[in-house]
Amino acid sequence: MLIPSQRSRDIEYAIRDVVIPAKEIEKKGKKVYYFNIGDPNKFDFDTPDFLKKEMIKIMKEGKSGYYGDSQGDEELREAIAKRENKKNKLDLRIDDIVVTQGISEGINFLLGTLIEPEKGDEILIGGPSYPIYIQLSRFFGGVPVTYRLDEENKWGSDIEDLESKITERTKAIVVINPNNPTGAVFSENSLKRIVRIAEEREIVLITDEIYDQLIFSSKDSPGLASLTKNVSVIGLNGFSKSYLVPGWRMGYMYFHDPRGILVDFKQSILKEARLRLSPSTPIMKACKVAYSGPQNHIKETNKKLKRRADFAYKRLNEIDGITTQKPEGAFYIFPKVDLGDRWKNDKEFCLDLIKNTGVVFPYGSGFDEKYGKDHFRSVILPPIEMMEEAFGKVDDFMEKS
Ligand SMILES: Cc1ncc(COP(=O)(O)O)c(C=O)c1O
Repeated sequence: MLIPSQRSRDIEYAIRDVVIPAKEIEKKGKKVYYFNIGDPNKFDFDTPDFLKKEMIKIMKEGKSGYYGDSQGDEELREAIAKRENKKNKLDLRIDDIVVTQGISEGINFLLGTLIEPEKGDEILIGGPSYPIYIQLSRFFGGVPVTYRLDEENKWGSDIEDLESKITERTKAIVVINPNNPTGAVFSENSLKRIVRIAEEREIVLITDEIYDQLIFSSKDSPGLASLTKNVSVIGLNGFSKSYLVPGWRMGYMYFHDPRGILVDFKQSILKEARLRLSPSTPIMKACKVAYSGPQNHIKETNKKLKRRADFAYKRLNEIDGITTQKPEGAFYIFPKVDLGDRWKNDKEFCLDLIKNTGVVFPYGSGFDEKYGKDHFRSVILPPIEMMEEAFGKVDDFMEKS
């Protein structure tokens, strides 16, 4: 028997782990509602035409199947620098950009390069959090520490809690805005307070802005890097969500480094990038036009998401034992469930729900044991009729339980 490493055995990913019991009941002929994965293309959203056409053109031209530049195609990095400079009023050059196979690969590079296991390095992350930050911090031998996102305050960051959790081992603060799993969009004021703390305590900021164009409230939320000329900010963004190509696996990382403290760090990231040869060459070529092409699909996507967020908020709050805040951006809603003495914890609740109704939600503690427990996450991507059907089943289930 080949024994897997302890660190690999410790990995948990609630978003996909719930699929295993779902597949079992699906095999038995039960209808399953996969409301677990933030993939718009699994519902009635599709890649904009101009990107599809670009991809076809590239394939027809041929000769795009070679290994690309490890750091990313220069023309793509130029397009990315132009976009991030405009958004954040920065002066990034193409050397400050690293193209990755989805943000996921970038997070992998980043945490692997940041964490020194022997030193007990801590990564400060808003909780609940998209699981990869917590899971990979642990995988690389670090200590994920979560600061509270405050449900009573529309899931805004609890800045006092954040500040109280900084120690001399804190290596970086992670901000996900708009947020997965809560759907919150952070105010400029709270982002400025985080920047001020990072400046005072000389801590690097990591900002994941993958949903930055998917805001459907009236709130305006600036890029974190635009708020500072002193703090080093490592930005993560990509095409998966806003350009409806999650399966293309194309993301990037940029270094806003006003004090020049990331020079060696960036070189180590590039070593990791070289080790995996390159991102997909044809996809890099196609994504070159993403930011400069027609952007109408974004408005349409947000219009649909707003209607679906309003519906999910209203319908879920009607269910006895479930309460929720209203999402303002991204694809998610993160309701609280009154477990009473019916279920031991949120995981048991979600598994019971899958078994009895076929509705698949990842359990809240999979997004952080402390600040995610007693919750579940749903996507707000399905058409309203589908949500109506599924949430109706949840309602019946809650009533009968
Ligand atoms: C906050 C956040 N970051 C990163 C990712 C991963 O994105 P990618 O497809 O670019 O790997 C996701 C996907 O759901 C996400 O929600």
